[in-house]
Amino acid sequence: MLSKTMEKALNEQINKEMFSSYLYLAMSAYLSTQYLEGFAKFFKVQSQEEMGHAMKLFGYINERGGQVVLDKIDKPQTNYKDIEEIFAQTLEHEKFITKSIHALVELAIQEKDHASKNFLDWYVNEQVEEEANMDNWLAKIKMVGNKGQALIMLDVHAGQRG
Ligand code: FEO
Repeated sequence: MLSKTMEKALNEQINKEMFSSYLYLAMSAYLSTQYLEGFAKFFKVQSQEEMGHAMKLFGYINERGGQVVLDKIDKPQTNYKDIEEIFAQTLEHEKFITKSIHALVELAIQEKDHASKNFLDWYVNEQVEEEANMDNWLAKIKMVGNKGQALIMLDVHAGQRG
């Protein structure tokens, strides 16, 4: 059985993951208006992954006899200056999520909730990958600048994400 504190904290993480999904979907919509269809697809896939992260928590809370309580999701930003701003914000957002996951791990350790600690380790590893991936894309975008043929090539590359 989950403690009430852990249940509340995990529910808050569901909201953060759902906001992530919403944020990346908003970025995808914006990128479509910029004719960057590859990046639009990339962020649509990313959005679906975030919903998967939320649903994994949803399942876990249920499994541990807790109650999932869904809260309202904040409105994401609609327009962006350019693709560099999008990846810079994405990297910052992922760092924020990492901190939030680490706080959950700390709580699990404090509460001697070994099952939650074990469950959360998956997210710890996932965040290493998420940050590295976004850092890599941001570096490439900075290399090519926001315009031109190289950006089109990166767009094609981004669209290959399955
Ligand atoms: Fe669910 Fe991108 O962290």
